[in-house]
Amino acid sequence: MNTHNGGRGRIEVRDVGVMFESRGAAVIAVDGVSLTVEPGEFVSLIGPSGCGKSTLLNIVAGFVQPTSGETLLDGKLISCPGSDRGVVFQQYSLFPWLTVRKNVEFGLKMQGVPGSKRETSARTLLGLAGLLSFENHYPDQLSGGMKQRVGIVRALATSPQVLLMDEPFGALDAQTRVVMQEILTNIWQKFRLSVLFVTHDIDESIFLSDKIFVMTARPGRIKAEIQVNLPRPRKPEMTTTPEFVELTQRLRALIREESLSAMGGELKDGGLGGFGMEVGPSGVGAVM
Ligand SMILES: Nc1ncnc2c1ncn2[C@@H]1O[C@H](COP(=O)(O)OP(=O)(O)O)[C@@H](O)[C@H]1O
Ligand SMILES: [Mg+2]
Repeated sequence: MNTHNGGRGRIEVRDVGVMFESRGAAVIAVDGVSLTVEPGEFVSLIGPSGCGKSTLLNIVAGFVQPTSGETLLDGKLISCPGSDRGVVFQQYSLFPWLTVRKNVEFGLKMQGVPGSKRETSARTLLGLAGLLSFENHYPDQLSGGMKQRVGIVRALATSPQVLLMDEPFGALDAQTRVVMQEILTNIWQKFRLSVLFVTHDIDESIFLSDKIFVMTARPGRIKAEIQVNLPRPRKPEMTTTPEFVELTQRLRALIREESLSAMGGELKDGGLGGFGMEVGPSGVGAVM
């Protein structure tokens, strides 16, 4: 944990449950989840598809209300979205009719920040993300990785205490993704804000995080809390160290159980063997 941000940005999820109505039937999406993100901490939420990761993130964002339990930011009940929380989704949500810089300025404009001040802030942030020379481009002139960098910069523009990210690199190719992860850790180290990051990629969660919460298959509960004590700044070379590999194996074992359970039916380890399926260490994990 670091405390450079004045100790603000503490997220507390307390015994949260979420039930959805689906075609007349009640679906328990999240059940009894408690977790804490300390000020300035980078925390990942990982688990099989459909286990409630996005639902939890949307609760912290204020887009979804829990059926039971409560969520607090710095001791204050979260009941709606707010500029204290920046959100980045997987799909690029930039305004196509605005230039890169105008996209970044948008939140500041909504807050009534004057034009020249907006421009200075946006240009500073774009510079940090290596995007200054693209400030007058439109989103559809950018690659996927660049669009997502603009998305991150835009979320940071209003100086939130918290950054909420839902599989932000999920649509990018593997190489771009690795570069984006490094850019994100670098930006995060500069801003020292709290991050809640949803992913189903084990390596990504270890590379980025201080702490990882592993969720069970639906209904989503917290299955394990894993501390990542790798030094900062994180470097791509670290992914081959014994510490990193050991963490990968632990997480893979935890998530494999849940992926099998999420797939349902007769699929157990023995069962897979019975079908003559080859299940490598990452085989079933990749189903998430
Ligand atoms: N608005 C909704 N209405 C009904 N069911 C929903 C709604 N949102 C999510 N769900 C269900 O809740 C479960 C968790 O969804 P989600 O949080 O999107 O999972 P994840 O992000 O881990 O893949 C899924 O079974 C999903 O179908
Ligand atoms: Mg999701």
